[in-house]
Amino acid sequence: MTGLVALLQQRLGAAFAAVAGGHAEPAVRRSQRADFQADGALALARKLGRPPRDVAADVLAQDPLDDLCATTEIAGPGFVNLTLRADVLGDLVTTMAADQRLGVPPADAPDTVVIDYSAPNAAKEMHVGHLRSTIIGDAAARVLGWLGHRVIRQNHVGDWGTPFGMLVEQLLDQDDAEHSIGDLNAFYRQAREKFDTDDGFRERSRARVVALQRGDEPTLRLWRTIVDLSARHYAEVYTRLGVLLTDADLAGESRYQPMLDDVAKELDRLGLLRESDGASCVFPAGFTNRDGDPLPLIVRKADGGYGYDTTDLAAIRYRIADLGATRLLYVVGSPQREHFQLIFQAAREAGWLTEGVRAEHIAFGSVLGTDGRMLRTRAGHTIRLTDLLDEAVTRAADKIRDRDVDTDTVARAVGIGAVKYADLSTDRTKDYTFDYDRMLAFDGNTGPYLQYAHARVQSILRRADEPPGQVTVAEPAERDLAIALLGFPDTIADLAETLEPHRLCAYLYALATTFTTFYESCPVLRADPTTRASRLALCALTARVLAHGLDLLGIEAPDRM
Ligand code: ARG
Repeated sequence: MTGLVALLQQRLGAAFAAVAGGHAEPAVRRSQRADFQADGALALARKLGRPPRDVAADVLAQDPLDDLCATTEIAGPGFVNLTLRADVLGDLVTTMAADQRLGVPPADAPDTVVIDYSAPNAAKEMHVGHLRSTIIGDAAARVLGWLGHRVIRQNHVGDWGTPFGMLVEQLLDQDDAEHSIGDLNAFYRQAREKFDTDDGFRERSRARVVALQRGDEPTLRLWRTIVDLSARHYAEVYTRLGVLLTDADLAGESRYQPMLDDVAKELDRLGLLRESDGASCVFPAGFTNRDGDPLPLIVRKADGGYGYDTTDLAAIRYRIADLGATRLLYVVGSPQREHFQLIFQAAREAGWLTEGVRAEHIAFGSVLGTDGRMLRTRAGHTIRLTDLLDEAVTRAADKIRDRDVDTDTVARAVGIGAVKYADLSTDRTKDYTFDYDRMLAFDGNTGPYLQYAHARVQSILRRADEPPGQVTVAEPAERDLAIALLGFPDTIADLAETLEPHRLCAYLYALATTFTTFYESCPVLRADPTTRASRLALCALTARVLAHGLDLLGIEAPDRM
């Protein structure tokens, strides 16, 4: 089974194709007038040079849809309004309820999807800037994994490059070899400050980078200490956040170092390298700056070193050739848009990124404070992720303290869930404002609202002792709820394509409000036995869809709140 929109699209698609003599888009969507509306006749009429209402009539003559619809009606300039049969809705919902996968079929051609996400920089504590990548990437990994795609998570941490010269020197300057993770930010700042003010330190740091790149053993050992310390810190944050990332997913920039010479050689052999100001560059076709000059990817710097661009070229080659990726997702902030477009184009020109492989930059905007500027502490520092999560959980605990639940467990679910949901529920390409009061509100399109809606349905179900039955759709509110539930597979299909989690959030929010209206107008426990069994089935399915939808977003759904 698939979603209702998919079903109507499929049926009408065939009828439209017959009228068009080739593919024509039926354009089915939810409507206020009827249950659904198909607008495709308008576009097709333009193409055929015929009156749209006639085209719509021909479509319905091809397929009257009477096994699905109680009424079909041509309205306005040529819309087709579709009202589904109540018995069909009841049967479809009953089938969905009997399906473990909630009507969502596994992908028939599974991809190998490499998802590049989180990617903090070693030797710096994770901050709010890494939050978005981690949360959005994790939702993508969950959804695609559930659909049966082979998901390979790659945490492209910044664990290589010039900062490590000064960090290793700073490590040597410190007497105590024991650095707690809380010190790591201070550690970085101290190194930075010395680097900027102390000539001797700067010289030593530069020499240290050279030693690191040459593979000097003692230097590598010190480097490893710093990288391991950072990794331990990430692991703590990931556990706290409840994301899927583990140490096994760490594939930082250092991993690609052994491949870089070969990448440069291959690009050279392909005739793609050009000298520019002493550096060897690729100039991917079709990219220029404002002055019309071609944009470079720097493969080898003038000093012979490799950098961020070369590493990403090696990574894309490795992910396709060695990991077998057929879809590549890079969950990275919008400022790196051009970087990835250049990498993709270069990879196409090198013959690594071929027709059958999709590469996508899953871009996202910034997190802003309530003052509308980049989120920072009062003192102007970047906010540490752990502090931010602590505060969300503390505030959540304050809100639920009087309830008869295990405060710690629920506060954690609500606090962390609120932070994640606030991030996922706004269009990822936009900036969003980080506002505790708003994200922790129990009303509106928030995490706590949905968690509470789910817990409320669970409490209804706890009060019934018989199993849910066949669904009968009689009241308008039952009909709305049935249609909302049947939209779940459509929403998931859409999410798998667009990787825009706010669409799933909007869906779940609409489902929860539709359920509320249903529950206010349709008594469940007090209804006659057949109606009661049907309404219990609607409740049970609503609970499952809410819980599973939240789970795909990486958000817990406690049974009691
Ligand atoms: N560490 C990088 C940064 O903080 C993000 C890396 C993203 N992934 C990649 N393959 N370039 O900006």
